[in-house]
Amino acid sequence: MHNSTSRRDFLRGASATLFAAATARKALSYQSQEQRIKIDAGEEIGTIRPELHGHFAEHLGSCTYGGLWVGAGSKIPNINGYRKQAVEYLKALGIPVLRWPGGCFADDYHWRDGIGPRAKRPKSVNIWWGNYTEDNSFGTHEFIGLCKLIGAEPYLAGNVGSGTPRELRDWVEYCNYPSGSTLSNERAANGSREPFGVKIWGIGNENWGCGGAMAPEEYAAHYRRYSTFVASRPESFGSSPLFLVACGPNGNNLDWTKRFFEGLQTAKTEIPRLARVPGGYAMHFYSNGKSPATEFTVENMQEQLSSFARIEAAVKQQRELMDTYDKQHKIGLMVDEWGVWDRMVPDEQKKYGRLWQQIPMRAAVAAAMGLNVFHRQADKLVMCNIAQITNVLHSLLLTENEKCIRTSTYYAFEMMKLHRSKKAIAVETGDDSPLGLSISASRQEQDLVITFVNPKHDAAIKVSAALAGVNAASGKAQVLRHDDFNACNTFDKPNEIVPKSHAIRVEGSKVEVDLPPLSIVTAALRLA
Ligand code: AHR
Repeated sequence: MHNSTSRRDFLRGASATLFAAATARKALSYQSQEQRIKIDAGEEIGTIRPELHGHFAEHLGSCTYGGLWVGAGSKIPNINGYRKQAVEYLKALGIPVLRWPGGCFADDYHWRDGIGPRAKRPKSVNIWWGNYTEDNSFGTHEFIGLCKLIGAEPYLAGNVGSGTPRELRDWVEYCNYPSGSTLSNERAANGSREPFGVKIWGIGNENWGCGGAMAPEEYAAHYRRYSTFVASRPESFGSSPLFLVACGPNGNNLDWTKRFFEGLQTAKTEIPRLARVPGGYAMHFYSNGKSPATEFTVENMQEQLSSFARIEAAVKQQRELMDTYDKQHKIGLMVDEWGVWDRMVPDEQKKYGRLWQQIPMRAAVAAAMGLNVFHRQADKLVMCNIAQITNVLHSLLLTENEKCIRTSTYYAFEMMKLHRSKKAIAVETGDDSPLGLSISASRQEQDLVITFVNPKHDAAIKVSAALAGVNAASGKAQVLRHDDFNACNTFDKPNEIVPKSHAIRVEGSKVEVDLPPLSIVTAALRLA
């Protein structure tokens, strides 16, 4: 956001106006406040890459097994083993990119366990997520098949922690080499003559923790070595250059970033010629919650929602530090795992699997605040993957036997889909406080999209937006809200929280909209 004094003065005049229209709402009452904002169509930030709305699926709890994959013999309706309802919902939403198989699981995953006839695949122990045995029936071919069904770009996270450069280099050859080598012939024998053409490859995951408990210099040395064999030439194993993802920090750990980038430069001057400069540098930033998902107090909710201001600060600071090493801005910053991580309920985990949590209205507000941050920082970010797509942490879908429901967060993503591929433009709210009105706006030719998120539980906001540089001819809006921030879509009531159309007043350069407490509103304007 911009800090020019004149803009601030313009905004301050109205944002301070509180009128005590206390309204009875169940047992709660709330105030209504006015806020003037400015949206500058002429000030472009950068393209909102669809990958900023990316996703992540791990072999964890019931995310993959039981969630996305039920097996062809299941009585649950499926398409060759993929849960039919999940495929339909995800395809309808549009999944720009899907990361797999972990997470922590990735650094203990040996890809050869998941190829060939399913009945003959080994049974392995998932040491990270409950020590259960899995039959490896969901492997590389099944993952690529899922991506094809839902239209997602596949992103494979390689094993650095317990693997070898050869194992990872062979996985790339198996997936991408057109034909003629033993591994590409094996892929063909296993059902795919066509190469998979996987472009995005993670060189490990959280290598400061579950990926090998490494020091940054140690990981940098591994990165150099692995990347040399995986992609020493841009065209290695296939026709298109690979996009390698290096493990970034936990949260805003600047020390990891500094020492990793210094470790990447063996000669103090540049990254060795044969090692591949990472395409992406992946930080992880979760928003922890101190209560079970449906029992949040106001204080716990405010603490969690405040984390998005810290994520935005982290993105700016990490990028600034990266720029001191990556002067040409070749390496893209990613938020490879993000989302709310609430206190787990043991009985729910027993029933639905590890890290299963409900996704109430508060979580949708968190998701929309996250996406707003990523849009505003579109010039610094190349990919952001919410954790995780089904049944784990901040999920979009929840499943129980044959039931599959869309969570409040699914709808937040659906409403904000309109921003994808548009140019993010500057917004000025005059209030940078962590629980202040959160906004992002984007434009493409005559279409202008604005997402407003009101993170306050006790105040409605009457927003008056001044459009600079353009006039609007018409507009329509949708709202996602609920009186109770702990309310959620359940298997019995799957439509408790769904988007509804919402009133918006559009006149020339002025747009007015009322935001109920804890609501998300996306407005689609047609410019004159
Ligand atoms: O998303 C759950 C876990 O969180 C992932 O496996 C790991 O990368 C992170 O710590």
